[in-house]
Amino acid sequence: MIAKIEELLQEVEVLKADNAEQLEALRIRYLGKKGIINDLMADFRNVPADQKRMVGMKLNELKTKAQEKINELKNRFAGDGHQYDGMDLTRTAYPQRLGTRHPLSIVRNQIIDIFARQGFTIAEGPEIEDDWHVFSALNFAEDHPARDMQDTFFVKVDNENVKRNVVLRTHTSSVQCRTMEHQQPPIRIICPGRVYRNEAISYRAHCFFHQVEGLYIDRNVSFADLKQTLLLFAQEMFGPETKIRLRPSYFPFTEPSAEMDISCNICGGKGCPFCKGTGWVEILGCGMVHPNVLENNGIDSKIYSGYALGMGIERITNLKYRVNDLRLFSENDVRFLQEFQAAY
Ligand code: DAH
Repeated sequence: MIAKIEELLQEVEVLKADNAEQLEALRIRYLGKKGIINDLMADFRNVPADQKRMVGMKLNELKTKAQEKINELKNRFAGDGHQYDGMDLTRTAYPQRLGTRHPLSIVRNQIIDIFARQGFTIAEGPEIEDDWHVFSALNFAEDHPARDMQDTFFVKVDNENVKRNVVLRTHTSSVQCRTMEHQQPPIRIICPGRVYRNEAISYRAHCFFHQVEGLYIDRNVSFADLKQTLLLFAQEMFGPETKIRLRPSYFPFTEPSAEMDISCNICGGKGCPFCKGTGWVEILGCGMVHPNVLENNGIDSKIYSGYALGMGIERITNLKYRVNDLRLFSENDVRFLQEFQAAY
Protein backbone atom coordinates (compact mmCIF):
# COMPACT_ATOMS: atom_id res chain seq x y z
CA MET A 1 0.00 0.00 0.00
CA ILE A 2 2.85 2.38 0.81
CA ALA A 3 4.25 1.85 -2.68
CA LYS A 4 0.86 2.64 -4.22
CA ILE A 5 0.57 5.83 -2.19
CA GLU A 6 4.10 6.91 -3.19
CA GLU A 7 3.20 6.37 -6.80
CA LEU A 8 0.03 8.44 -6.44
CA LEU A 9 1.96 11.23 -4.70
CA GLN A 10 4.17 11.56 -7.76
CA GLU A 11 1.18 11.41 -10.06
CA VAL A 12 -0.61 14.17 -8.18
CA GLU A 13 2.47 16.37 -8.24
CA VAL A 14 2.31 16.70 -12.03
CA LEU A 15 -1.45 16.89 -12.53
CA LYS A 16 -2.52 19.17 -15.39
CA ALA A 17 -5.87 20.50 -16.53
CA ASP A 18 -6.61 22.65 -19.58
CA ASN A 19 -10.01 23.76 -18.51
CA ALA A 20 -12.50 23.74 -15.68
CA GLU A 21 -14.17 20.53 -16.85
CA GLN A 22 -10.93 18.60 -16.87
CA LEU A 23 -10.14 19.92 -13.43
CA GLU A 24 -13.49 18.78 -12.10
CA ALA A 25 -12.86 15.32 -13.54
CA LEU A 26 -9.55 15.19 -11.68
CA ARG A 27 -11.19 16.28 -8.44
CA ILE A 28 -13.75 13.53 -8.73
CA ARG A 29 -11.09 10.98 -9.63
CA TYR A 30 -8.91 11.70 -6.58
CA LEU A 31 -11.09 13.38 -3.98
CA GLY A 32 -14.60 12.32 -4.93
CA LYS A 33 -16.74 10.10 -2.68
CA LYS A 34 -15.82 7.08 -4.73
CA GLY A 35 -12.42 8.48 -5.64
CA ILE A 36 -9.00 6.85 -5.33
CA ILE A 37 -8.20 8.37 -1.95
CA ASN A 38 -11.48 7.37 -0.33
CA ASP A 39 -10.94 3.82 -1.65
CA LEU A 40 -7.57 3.77 0.05
CA MET A 41 -9.13 5.07 3.27
CA ALA A 42 -11.61 2.21 3.14
CA ASP A 43 -8.75 -0.25 2.74
CA PHE A 44 -6.96 1.27 5.71
CA ARG A 45 -8.59 -1.10 8.18
CA ASN A 46 -6.90 -4.06 6.44
CA VAL A 47 -3.45 -2.59 7.00
CA PRO A 48 -1.45 -4.61 9.59
CA ALA A 49 -1.37 -2.86 12.93
CA ASP A 50 2.37 -2.24 12.90
CA GLN A 51 2.16 -0.36 9.59
CA LYS A 52 -0.95 1.65 10.43
CA ARG A 53 0.95 4.71 11.70
CA MET A 54 3.20 4.95 8.66
CA VAL A 55 0.44 4.28 6.13
CA GLY A 56 -1.89 6.69 7.92
CA MET A 57 0.65 9.50 7.66
CA LYS A 58 1.35 8.84 3.99
CA LEU A 59 -2.35 8.66 3.23
CA ASN A 60 -2.96 12.04 4.90
CA GLU A 61 -0.03 13.50 2.99
CA LEU A 62 -1.55 12.28 -0.28
CA LYS A 63 -4.93 13.72 0.57
CA THR A 64 -3.50 17.13 1.48
CA LYS A 65 -1.29 17.19 -1.59
CA ALA A 66 -4.18 16.32 -3.93
CA GLN A 67 -6.32 18.99 -2.32
CA GLU A 68 -3.59 21.59 -2.69
CA LYS A 69 -2.88 20.69 -6.30
CA ILE A 70 -6.53 20.87 -7.27
CA ASN A 71 -6.89 24.24 -5.54
CA GLU A 72 -3.81 25.54 -7.31
CA LEU A 73 -5.21 24.49 -10.70
CA LYS A 74 -8.58 25.91 -9.77
CA ASN A 75 -7.14 29.37 -9.12
CA ARG A 76 -6.04 29.53 -12.72
CA PHE A 77 -9.58 29.12 -13.91
CA ALA A 78 -11.08 31.45 -11.36
CA GLY A 79 -13.17 34.30 -12.71
CA ASP A 80 -14.16 33.84 -16.34
CA GLY A 81 -13.12 30.22 -16.54
CA HIS A 82 -10.25 30.93 -18.94
CA GLN A 83 -6.70 29.99 -18.38
CA TYR A 84 -4.41 32.81 -17.38
CA ASP A 85 -2.72 33.82 -20.62
CA GLY A 86 -0.07 36.24 -19.47
CA MET A 87 -2.35 39.24 -20.09
CA ASP A 88 -0.89 42.48 -18.73
CA LEU A 89 -3.63 44.09 -16.66
CA THR A 90 -1.64 47.30 -16.24
CA ARG A 91 -1.60 47.97 -19.98
CA THR A 92 -3.65 50.85 -21.38
CA ALA A 93 -7.07 49.63 -22.48
CA TYR A 94 -7.87 49.30 -26.16
CA PRO A 95 -9.93 52.32 -27.28
CA GLN A 96 -13.60 51.45 -27.19
CA ARG A 97 -15.57 52.24 -30.32
CA LEU A 98 -18.96 53.55 -29.34
CA GLY A 99 -21.93 53.10 -31.62
CA THR A 100 -23.97 56.19 -32.39
CA ARG A 101 -27.68 56.77 -32.47
CA HIS A 102 -29.11 57.67 -35.85
CA PRO A 103 -29.70 61.43 -36.10
CA LEU A 104 -33.37 60.85 -36.89
CA SER A 105 -33.73 58.77 -33.73
CA ILE A 106 -32.00 61.46 -31.71
CA VAL A 107 -34.38 64.14 -32.96
CA ARG A 108 -37.46 61.90 -32.72
CA ASN A 109 -36.58 61.20 -29.09
CA GLN A 110 -36.16 64.92 -28.42
CA ILE A 111 -39.57 65.67 -29.95
CA ILE A 112 -41.19 62.88 -27.94
CA ASP A 113 -39.52 64.14 -24.81
CA ILE A 114 -40.78 67.72 -25.23
CA PHE A 115 -44.37 66.59 -25.85
CA ALA A 116 -44.27 63.92 -23.16
CA ARG A 117 -43.52 66.64 -20.62
CA GLN A 118 -46.77 68.32 -21.66
CA GLY A 119 -48.74 65.15 -21.04
CA PHE A 120 -48.77 63.62 -24.52
CA THR A 121 -48.45 59.86 -24.83
CA ILE A 122 -47.21 57.90 -27.80
CA ALA A 123 -49.60 56.22 -30.22
CA GLU A 124 -48.64 54.09 -33.19
CA GLY A 125 -50.42 52.69 -36.20
CA PRO A 126 -49.68 50.51 -39.23
CA GLU A 127 -47.55 51.69 -42.16
CA ILE A 128 -49.68 49.64 -44.54
CA GLU A 129 -53.04 51.32 -44.17
CA ASP A 130 -56.39 51.49 -45.88
CA ASP A 131 -57.68 54.44 -47.82
CA TRP A 132 -60.22 55.18 -45.09
CA HIS A 133 -57.69 55.91 -42.32
CA VAL A 134 -55.23 57.77 -44.56
CA PHE A 135 -57.72 59.84 -46.57
CA SER A 136 -61.49 59.44 -46.23
CA ALA A 137 -61.78 59.62 -42.46
CA LEU A 138 -59.57 62.71 -42.59
CA ASN A 139 -62.02 64.52 -44.83
CA PHE A 140 -60.09 64.19 -48.09
CA ALA A 141 -62.49 64.58 -51.03
CA GLU A 142 -62.81 61.62 -53.40
CA ASP A 143 -60.88 63.49 -56.07
CA HIS A 144 -58.21 65.00 -53.83
CA PRO A 145 -54.86 64.99 -55.67
CA ALA A 146 -53.07 63.29 -52.75
CA ARG A 147 -54.98 60.13 -53.64
CA ASP A 148 -53.32 60.18 -57.03
CA MET A 149 -50.99 57.33 -58.02
CA GLN A 150 -48.29 59.93 -58.45
CA ASP A 151 -48.21 60.68 -54.74
CA THR A 152 -49.35 57.52 -53.09
CA PHE A 153 -48.03 53.96 -53.19
CA PHE A 154 -50.90 51.54 -53.59
CA VAL A 155 -50.63 47.98 -52.32
CA LYS A 156 -52.11 45.29 -54.51
CA VAL A 157 -54.40 43.07 -52.50
CA ASP A 158 -55.50 39.83 -54.16
CA ASN A 159 -58.51 39.39 -52.03
CA GLU A 160 -61.99 39.94 -53.44
CA ASN A 161 -63.32 40.70 -49.97
CA VAL A 162 -61.12 43.72 -49.45
CA LYS A 163 -63.21 46.65 -50.57
CA ARG A 164 -61.02 49.44 -49.32
CA ASN A 165 -57.88 50.40 -51.23
CA VAL A 166 -54.71 49.52 -49.39
CA VAL A 167 -51.88 52.09 -49.44
CA LEU A 168 -48.59 52.84 -47.76
CA ARG A 169 -49.54 55.67 -45.42
CA THR A 170 -48.51 59.05 -46.77
CA HIS A 171 -48.67 60.73 -43.38
CA THR A 172 -48.96 59.80 -39.72
CA SER A 173 -52.30 61.64 -39.49
CA SER A 174 -53.85 58.19 -40.04
CA VAL A 175 -52.92 57.36 -36.45
CA GLN A 176 -55.30 60.13 -35.32
CA CYS A 177 -58.19 58.15 -36.76
CA ARG A 178 -56.97 54.84 -35.37
CA THR A 179 -56.87 56.41 -31.91
CA MET A 180 -60.19 58.28 -32.04
CA GLU A 181 -61.92 55.10 -33.24
CA HIS A 182 -61.50 53.41 -29.90
CA GLN A 183 -60.87 56.21 -27.46
CA GLN A 184 -63.14 59.04 -26.34
CA PRO A 185 -61.63 62.40 -25.29
CA PRO A 186 -59.58 63.55 -23.56
CA ILE A 187 -57.04 62.40 -26.14
CA ARG A 188 -53.51 63.75 -26.06
CA ILE A 189 -51.16 61.78 -28.29
CA ILE A 190 -48.10 62.08 -30.46
CA CYS A 191 -47.54 59.60 -33.24
CA PRO A 192 -44.01 59.20 -34.55
CA GLY A 193 -43.52 56.98 -37.58
CA ARG A 194 -42.40 56.34 -41.12
CA VAL A 195 -44.41 57.50 -44.11
CA TYR A 196 -44.14 56.86 -47.84
CA ARG A 197 -44.64 58.99 -50.93
CA ASN A 198 -44.13 58.25 -54.56
CA GLU A 199 -41.34 60.78 -55.12
CA ALA A 200 -38.20 60.65 -57.24
CA ILE A 201 -35.25 60.39 -54.86
CA SER A 202 -33.03 63.46 -54.75
CA TYR A 203 -31.19 65.54 -52.15
CA ARG A 204 -34.49 67.14 -51.14
CA ALA A 205 -37.07 64.34 -51.56
CA HIS A 206 -37.24 60.66 -50.72
CA CYS A 207 -39.81 57.95 -51.17
CA PHE A 208 -39.93 57.44 -47.42
CA PHE A 209 -39.39 59.79 -44.51
CA HIS A 210 -40.56 60.29 -40.93
CA GLN A 211 -43.20 62.38 -39.25
CA VAL A 212 -44.54 63.13 -35.82
CA GLU A 213 -48.24 63.85 -35.54
CA GLY A 214 -49.75 65.51 -32.50
CA LEU A 215 -53.41 65.45 -31.48
CA TYR A 216 -55.23 66.97 -28.52
CA ILE A 217 -58.99 66.64 -28.14
CA ASP A 218 -61.05 67.67 -25.14
CA ARG A 219 -63.81 70.08 -24.19
CA ASN A 220 -62.99 73.72 -25.02
CA VAL A 221 -59.65 73.21 -26.72
CA SER A 222 -58.83 76.43 -28.56
CA PHE A 223 -56.37 77.77 -31.09
CA ALA A 224 -54.65 79.58 -28.20
CA ASP A 225 -53.85 76.18 -26.64
CA LEU A 226 -52.33 75.08 -29.93
CA LYS A 227 -50.25 78.22 -30.23
CA GLN A 228 -48.85 77.91 -26.72
CA THR A 229 -47.93 74.27 -27.26
CA LEU A 230 -46.19 75.18 -30.51
CA LEU A 231 -44.25 78.04 -28.94
CA LEU A 232 -43.09 75.82 -26.13
CA PHE A 233 -42.05 73.12 -28.58
CA ALA A 234 -40.11 75.56 -30.79
CA GLN A 235 -38.27 77.11 -27.88
CA GLU A 236 -37.36 73.79 -26.31
CA MET A 237 -36.20 72.42 -29.64
CA PHE A 238 -34.36 75.42 -31.06
CA GLY A 239 -33.58 77.57 -28.04
CA PRO A 240 -35.40 80.11 -25.84
CA GLU A 241 -34.83 83.02 -28.27
CA THR A 242 -36.87 81.28 -30.98
CA LYS A 243 -39.97 83.10 -32.28
CA ILE A 244 -42.87 81.46 -34.08
CA ARG A 245 -45.15 82.74 -36.84
CA LEU A 246 -48.41 81.13 -37.98
CA ARG A 247 -49.50 81.57 -41.60
CA PRO A 248 -53.00 80.57 -42.80
CA SER A 249 -52.93 77.39 -44.85
CA TYR A 250 -55.16 74.55 -45.97
CA PHE A 251 -55.42 70.91 -44.93
CA PRO A 252 -58.61 68.89 -45.42
CA PHE A 253 -58.52 67.63 -41.83
CA THR A 254 -58.16 70.97 -40.02
CA GLU A 255 -60.15 74.19 -40.04
CA PRO A 256 -58.70 76.73 -39.64
CA SER A 257 -55.31 75.43 -40.76
CA ALA A 258 -51.91 77.01 -40.44
CA GLU A 259 -48.28 76.50 -41.21
CA MET A 260 -45.74 77.40 -38.60
CA ASP A 261 -42.44 79.13 -39.25
CA ILE A 262 -39.70 79.64 -36.69
CA SER A 263 -37.24 82.50 -36.71
CA CYS A 264 -34.26 81.20 -38.68
CA ASN A 265 -32.05 79.46 -36.14
CA ILE A 266 -28.98 80.07 -38.27
CA CYS A 267 -29.04 83.86 -38.67
CA GLY A 268 -31.35 84.49 -35.70
CA GLY A 269 -33.96 86.07 -37.98
CA LYS A 270 -31.74 88.66 -39.70
CA GLY A 271 -31.91 86.92 -43.07
CA CYS A 272 -29.35 84.54 -44.60
CA PRO A 273 -29.06 82.22 -47.60
CA PHE A 274 -30.55 79.36 -45.54
CA CYS A 275 -33.83 81.22 -44.91
CA LYS A 276 -33.56 82.84 -48.34
CA GLY A 277 -33.19 86.21 -46.69
CA THR A 278 -36.61 86.05 -45.03
CA GLY A 279 -35.49 85.33 -41.47
CA TRP A 280 -38.13 82.56 -41.19
CA VAL A 281 -38.19 78.81 -41.92
CA GLU A 282 -41.26 76.63 -42.14
CA ILE A 283 -41.34 73.61 -39.82
CA LEU A 284 -44.84 72.20 -39.50
CA GLY A 285 -48.53 72.15 -40.38
CA CYS A 286 -51.31 72.44 -37.82
CA GLY A 287 -54.87 73.52 -37.15
CA MET A 288 -58.11 72.86 -35.32
CA VAL A 289 -59.43 69.37 -36.05
CA HIS A 290 -62.21 69.62 -38.65
CA PRO A 291 -65.65 68.70 -37.18
CA ASN A 292 -66.08 66.18 -40.04
CA VAL A 293 -62.96 64.36 -38.86
CA LEU A 294 -64.30 64.15 -35.31
CA GLU A 295 -67.68 62.87 -36.53
CA ASN A 296 -66.10 60.40 -39.01
CA ASN A 297 -64.23 58.87 -36.10
CA GLY A 298 -67.09 58.70 -33.63
CA ILE A 299 -66.47 61.84 -31.57
CA ASP A 300 -69.24 64.38 -30.96
CA SER A 301 -68.07 67.66 -32.50
CA LYS A 302 -70.70 69.60 -30.55
CA ILE A 303 -69.08 68.63 -27.27
CA TYR A 304 -65.43 68.33 -28.17
CA SER A 305 -62.85 70.29 -30.11
CA GLY A 306 -59.18 69.74 -30.65
CA TYR A 307 -56.00 70.67 -32.42
CA ALA A 308 -53.62 68.65 -34.57
CA LEU A 309 -50.12 69.22 -35.81
CA GLY A 310 -47.72 67.35 -38.01
CA MET A 311 -44.03 67.74 -38.74
CA GLY A 312 -41.30 65.97 -40.69
CA ILE A 313 -38.49 64.63 -38.51
CA GLU A 314 -36.00 65.02 -41.38
CA ARG A 315 -36.87 68.69 -41.66
CA ILE A 316 -36.32 69.35 -37.95
CA THR A 317 -33.08 67.36 -38.09
CA ASN A 318 -31.86 69.39 -41.07
CA LEU A 319 -32.50 72.57 -39.18
CA LYS A 320 -30.78 71.37 -36.04
CA TYR A 321 -27.80 69.69 -37.64
CA ARG A 322 -27.63 71.31 -41.12
CA VAL A 323 -27.82 68.07 -43.03
CA ASN A 324 -28.40 69.23 -46.58
CA ASP A 325 -28.91 65.95 -48.42
CA LEU A 326 -31.87 63.78 -47.37
CA ARG A 327 -30.27 60.68 -48.86
CA LEU A 328 -27.62 60.69 -46.13
CA PHE A 329 -30.27 59.58 -43.66
CA SER A 330 -30.84 56.24 -45.36
CA GLU A 331 -27.42 55.41 -46.77
CA ASN A 332 -25.95 54.39 -43.42
CA ASP A 333 -22.52 55.73 -44.21
CA VAL A 334 -20.75 55.32 -40.86
CA ARG A 335 -18.69 58.47 -41.46
CA PHE A 336 -21.93 60.46 -41.48
CA LEU A 337 -23.43 58.57 -38.54
CA GLN A 338 -20.30 59.02 -36.43
CA GLU A 339 -20.68 62.77 -36.61
CA PHE A 340 -23.56 62.34 -34.17
CA GLN A 341 -21.49 60.62 -31.52
CA ALA A 342 -21.61 63.62 -29.25
CA ALA A 343 -25.39 64.01 -29.50
CA TYR A 344 -27.49 61.92 -27.18
N1 DAH B 1 -50.40 65.37 -42.58
C1 DAH B 1 -49.74 66.58 -43.04
C2 DAH B 1 -48.68 66.22 -44.07
O1 DAH B 1 -48.31 65.11 -44.16
C3 DAH B 1 -49.11 67.30 -41.90
C4 DAH B 1 -50.11 67.89 -41.02
C5 DAH B 1 -50.59 69.15 -41.26
C6 DAH B 1 -50.59 67.19 -39.94
C7 DAH B 1 -51.53 69.74 -40.44
C8 DAH B 1 -51.56 67.76 -39.11
C9 DAH B 1 -52.01 69.04 -39.38
O2 DAH B 1 -52.06 67.13 -38.07
O3 DAH B 1 -52.92 69.61 -38.55
O4 DAH B 1 -48.24 67.08 -44.77
